[in-house]
Amino acid sequence: MYDDHDRPTGPADRDLPGPYAREAVSSEAGADERRLEGALRPRALDEFVGQERVREQLSLVLDSARKRNRAPDHILMSGGPGLGKTTLAMIIAAELGSPLRITSGPAIERSGDLAAVLSTLQEGEVLFLDEIHRMARPAEEMLYVAMEDFRVDVVVGKGPGATAIPLEIAPFTLVGATTRAGMLPAPLRDRFGFTAHMDFYSAEELERILHRSAGLLGVPLAEDAAREIAGRSRGTPRIANRLLRRVRDYAEVRGDGIMSLDTARATLELYEVDALGLDRLDRAILDVLLRRFRGGPVGLSTLAVSVGEEAETVEVVAEPFLVRSGFLARTPRGRVATPLAWAHLGLTPPPDAAFGAAAAAQGGGTTGSGGTNGNGSSGTP
Ligand SMILES: Nc1ncnc2c1ncn2[C@@H]1O[C@H](COP(=O)(O)OP(=O)(O)OP(=O)(O)O)[C@@H](O)[C@H]1O
Ligand SMILES: [Mg+2]
Repeated sequence: MYDDHDRPTGPADRDLPGPYAREAVSSEAGADERRLEGALRPRALDEFVGQERVREQLSLVLDSARKRNRAPDHILMSGGPGLGKTTLAMIIAAELGSPLRITSGPAIERSGDLAAVLSTLQEGEVLFLDEIHRMARPAEEMLYVAMEDFRVDVVVGKGPGATAIPLEIAPFTLVGATTRAGMLPAPLRDRFGFTAHMDFYSAEELERILHRSAGLLGVPLAEDAAREIAGRSRGTPRIANRLLRRVRDYAEVRGDGIMSLDTARATLELYEVDALGLDRLDRAILDVLLRRFRGGPVGLSTLAVSVGEEAETVEVVAEPFLVRSGFLARTPRGRVATPLAWAHLGLTPPPDAAFGAAAAAQGGGTTGSGGTNGNGSSGTP
């Protein structure tokens, strides 16, 4: 609706990080980091901090399944990177005492790939399908049937002689995770009994996560230091834990081994995480939006190209935080900077700058006609 970003932009961008993807406050994680994260992952539902509503809903689903001695309904988790989807999937299996099988949308290129997984599931097994929105279409259709009837139709032969042989599979629980729930086809979404919407965490919740992690790392963390780190973690546990590890390094190498407020501040400055948690990609986006496009509106793909990133990275990694913090608005005509963005970068908006809500409400008429960038800079997606 906004522009062309409703389709995936290419192969899994996580494997092909752009210039900013590994910055200190990217909410995405590389392979090395995912290994480190394992150590800090909560293993049980009551160790999982925050997301009160999701936790309560989930414990109801799990308790009831345990009571009936049946596999629970299929569960979909939607939410941005680093908010705890994988963690919750593992907790679900652990709470059920069931084995967990992990695969992901990009790994399923043909329906045969999915059939191979489904037909080898044990009864009650939890199948975690990460990035479920990236699964191949024919596999999606196979999944509908498997979810509903615990059956896969294996097609044998080709052309007019092809026959579908129904194959029964063991009752299992599918746990799907997606950063883009809107991209799932409705028939797939409808087959989940329950969708957990993962939200950003409050500063107080992040502080609790940080203290828990510091305990696991075995390095003392001062209260005020935890508050400082939490405030710059963009509501995301992954970022909080990552910043914590950097502060720990600093404390151990240059300090006295204690994560104090001073150590935390020095570390965050070193890694260019500003007081509001903006990193280089965020600032690059705002900078381009303000200086080159005079505050917008500008289409997502144009904006992404201008900062040398994939549109999906800009949309999934940077924008949710920029929007939530009030720096940027998504309008039907493109991305628009808010007065807060101009102020944060210390710039003065031109008199005809379009501002978020105002631009959206007017719907038209603010194409920066007088500006040097008047044409081609914006508006038309
Ligand atoms: N509620 C929580 N309490 C404590 N730690 C958490 C919580 N949620 C996430 N974490 C920590 O944050 C890290 C990232 O979480 P996780 O891998 O589950 O995110 P994700 O949503 O699966 O991200 P992605 O979309 O990139 O796969 C983990 O190391 C985990 O320890
Ligand atoms: Mg994950």
